[in-house]
Amino acid sequence: MSLVDQFQRRITYLRLSVTDRCDLRCTYCMPERQTFLPRDQVLSLEELHRLALGFIARGVTRIRLTGGEPLVRRDMIELVRALGRKLGDGLDELTLTTNGMALGRFAEDLAAAGVRRINVSLDTLDRDRFAALARRDGHGQVLDGIAAARAAGLAVKINAVALKGINEGEIPNLLEWAHGQDMDLTLIEVMPLGEVEADRVDQYLPLTQVREQLDRRYALTPSAHRTGGPARYFDAAETGGRIGFITPLTGNFCDGCNRVRVTATGQLHPCLGGHEMVDLRAALRSADPDAQLSAALDRAMAIKPERHGFAIRERGAAPALARHMSATGG
Ligand code: GTP
Ligand code: 5AD
Ligand code: SF4
Repeated sequence: MSLVDQFQRRITYLRLSVTDRCDLRCTYCMPERQTFLPRDQVLSLEELHRLALGFIARGVTRIRLTGGEPLVRRDMIELVRALGRKLGDGLDELTLTTNGMALGRFAEDLAAAGVRRINVSLDTLDRDRFAALARRDGHGQVLDGIAAARAAGLAVKINAVALKGINEGEIPNLLEWAHGQDMDLTLIEVMPLGEVEADRVDQYLPLTQVREQLDRRYALTPSAHRTGGPARYFDAAETGGRIGFITPLTGNFCDGCNRVRVTATGQLHPCLGGHEMVDLRAALRSADPDAQLSAALDRAMAIKPERHGFAIRERGAAPALARHMSATGG
């Protein structure tokens, strides 16, 4: 009944991408010119709902909605409301990862639907640097969005991808800013997914190096806090806040993997860093969707790889995987 892979890892966490579209174009995530999926290839609201219920029936207790940017999908809040009704009835947690641009509009609706915490991507506190990184203006809008989320009672975790020579010098500021408002900060190593104009060798900043920089300023001690995700958290004595490190390159965390992700077209990727996939859309559009879906989930468990093979080695090398992060939502 429950989903267990061939390495005895129990899958209880689904990352469900509801759209490949985004209103920003972060240089590590997407090329400036991205072709988006035609509407008919994207799962409908009803299909997304059925799919999520199929996962809950197989023991998934946490669902994170992702994109692209989940809040650019028009009927997104309907899905949040529908899934919110499963909270306490199979589902323990419903969350999302967002760029924050539309939180001003949706924060209250999200909270009313049962969302308790969200992750907001914000790599810099500098307006011009934001515009260069995201290739769009929006810094003020994201900050307003974060404020709206907090006013609506949502806990916010800030995600920052650590980028060499870009936000490297700002990390202590980001930490002080986040902790000053009682928000966790998580730093992420850039992963080589999809062809983007920037070179990953130029962008890549090992978090081991950031950690050394932070250790000179803060007394960081391991925290017992866990979210079920890959971040390892530390308490900073000076701020009283928490900092998480997501280290796909310098510290593999795949042993404890509890998740799979599904794209907006219904392709299940058992691993963010793998080529394997299972077509759930075909199952959903078959004559017996629930049974076919459940069978497809069993197939996914049989092919989930032990770990990713991400590496950042040489300038100009092709990315490890051709698909962009915006397809799988991370
Ligand atoms: P919580 O722990 O529930 O707060 O969420 P999270 O950190 O798992 O999710 P979030 O969407 O905030 O993702 C943060 C970063 O972690 C992104 O860069 C994701 O791509 C990355 N990430 C999340 N899950 C995995 C995973 O299973 N494998 C790898 N390699 N990266 C992941
Ligand atoms: N490597 C690491 N993290 C990435 N994200 C997007 N692209 C990459 C990448 N190539 C992050 C976003 C967001 C989360 C879903 O994934 O910043 O916080
Ligand atoms: Fe799991 Fe793959 Fe992520 Fe490793 S990279 S934690 S195996 S999804």
